[in-house]
Amino acid sequence: MKEILIATGNEHKVKEFKEMLEPMGYTIKSLKDLDTNIEIHETGTTFEENSMIKAKTLHEALGCAVMADDSGLQVDALDGAPGVYSARFMGEDTSYDIKNQYIIDAVKGKPRGAQFVCVISYVEEDGTEHSFRGVVEGEIHDHMLGENGFGYDPIFYYPPYKTTLANVSEEMKNAVSHRGVALRQCVAYLKEKQQ
Ligand code: IMP
Repeated sequence: MKEILIATGNEHKVKEFKEMLEPMGYTIKSLKDLDTNIEIHETGTTFEENSMIKAKTLHEALGCAVMADDSGLQVDALDGAPGVYSARFMGEDTSYDIKNQYIIDAVKGKPRGAQFVCVISYVEEDGTEHSFRGVVEGEIHDHMLGENGFGYDPIFYYPPYKTTLANVSEEMKNAVSHRGVALRQCVAYLKEKQQ
């Protein structure tokens, strides 16, 4: 049975990867399952670079197939910021209530377009590299709305749902989210390879 290491310790992400990949016969491991403290320096300036740095670092150290993701929010009126710095924006310890309010204020009277982007990089056991990009287009809402999800979801208004991604169920978010889109592309590639 083929094993893939998911380069995250985030339980929520691991669950999402498992739900998609285990039915295809893959065994999924995460950093939580390994007793390792390999250091990864996310020094890239694009989602592709950072996700590939994570996947390659672990593949080089452990020799197994690795999938890594990198994601964030791009705001048109902020020239694409916070982008790859989404987690670090205004400081890692600053609450999302403060970050979200800052963005709401910063886009007042400006175009409201924004995107969530996710890139999944996959390094196969033999070292072959792939990247899959998922994007969801939305707008910065004029106030925080909804209790679900995490991070910037309360300000990310998704026009087809007429509400924010924090105000819909997990299933509805996954059906359209950047991570869902990238993951489904990755799964399509694996299915094609299995045939
Ligand atoms: P990472 O890819 O897990 O490092 O995520 C980077 C950061 O982007 C997160 O800490 C959030 O600030 C933001 N982000 C990524 N995906 C989402 C999402 O689905 N909803 C809200 N914020 C997100």
